[in-house]
Amino acid sequence: MLPVRLAVIPGDGVGPEVTAEVLRVLRVVERRSQVPFDIVEFPWGTDHYLRTGHVAPPDFLEVLRGFDAILLGAMGDPRVPDHIPVGLVLQIRRQFDLYVNLRPIRLVPGVPTPLAHRPTIDILFVRENTEGEYAQSGGRLYTGSKDEIAVHTAVFTARGIERVAVYAFERARRRRRLVTSVSKANALPHTYGLWDEVVKRVASRYPDVTFETVLVDAMAYHMVRQPDRFDVVVASNLFGDILTDLGAALQGGLGLAASANLNPDGPYPAMFEPVHGSAPDIAGRGIANPVGAIWSAALALEYLAHRGRLPGGDRLAEVVVQAITDVLGVGPHTPDLGGSASTSDVGRAITERVTELMGL
Ligand code: NAD
Ligand code: IPM
Ligand code: MN
Repeated sequence: MLPVRLAVIPGDGVGPEVTAEVLRVLRVVERRSQVPFDIVEFPWGTDHYLRTGHVAPPDFLEVLRGFDAILLGAMGDPRVPDHIPVGLVLQIRRQFDLYVNLRPIRLVPGVPTPLAHRPTIDILFVRENTEGEYAQSGGRLYTGSKDEIAVHTAVFTARGIERVAVYAFERARRRRRLVTSVSKANALPHTYGLWDEVVKRVASRYPDVTFETVLVDAMAYHMVRQPDRFDVVVASNLFGDILTDLGAALQGGLGLAASANLNPDGPYPAMFEPVHGSAPDIAGRGIANPVGAIWSAALALEYLAHRGRLPGGDRLAEVVVQAITDVLGVGPHTPDLGGSASTSDVGRAITERVTELMGL
């Protein structure tokens, strides 16, 4: 079988630090895989921008198109306006039509949560990933004058809402059969009115799945008070962005949270990245938690199995998540979890555990 082709974009800030640990783990996983991994690293990001005037070469989408999956560290650097490096992430999501942003939020034994009652947390966020408030529709007028105007229009399409809702219901069928849809139709009746109508229509096709709609402000409240009541949550691009940082806090921190940008049947590579950004406040110190990035790589293995590119990828993914869970249970822990271990201490511990679990 052809090798699995993985494009790796370490990016900015802590991105390269956590990505190095992802590669350490993948090199071991590859030994148990029936298919070799062909891994190509691309040094794109802010340094590239400062050198060349581009975050990535102008043909970067063409370059990435030939891969099976993309692993991204993080983008963003205080030396340049945020939208420049971060634009790369948004362009990949949109141009490759990766309409699902899948973000599992799970509280693992041994990890501290800010919630004193320590509930069970196992939520699968399905965030719409190509439209809503992220549609690049808007502009500014009379720039610099006191009459300056800024307009940014949210774009919601029935087709865009329907496909992400279908994905959420399909996932719920394989879990606890509850879908919570996040809305704000009380104040934004046009866009979220359409959202509610379309999700409800999809829900009627899944009578075996319980369905509810919760307003986003109340959702933030319930996630803190009763996170155990949620199973699959489907949310618009912006609401999903905000609520998954909240979810990351509940599961022990942004350093743990994983994500997959995918189109289950699309022709382009999916992209896997931790939920966190480039964390400039801790970059360069070797203390970033690599778990979110490694967990994202596990989501990639699962996806590659689903696409028929990596036989047994599901099992490999399970082993990586098991190794993460085991290491989180006993340590070592990076400082965000109250430990004093380095990024590579944790990466090495997970790699060793993967090696043991795979019987290598
Ligand atoms: P951030 O996620 O980078 O950091 C928020 C907080 O979480 C910080 O205190 C940081 O130290 C901590 N944190 C993040 N990752 C961690 C890790 N692996 N281990 C331990 N602690 C970690 O968010 P921000 O500060 O708002 O953004 C920084 C930059 O990253 C900005 O330029 C932003 O636009 C960008 N960003 C990029 C992505 C991406 O590339 N996908 C995602 C989010 C933010
Ligand atoms: C995320 C990030 C991105 C987003 C930024 C970098 C544009 O915060 O992946 O959660 O808002 O989607
Ligand atoms: Mn975010």
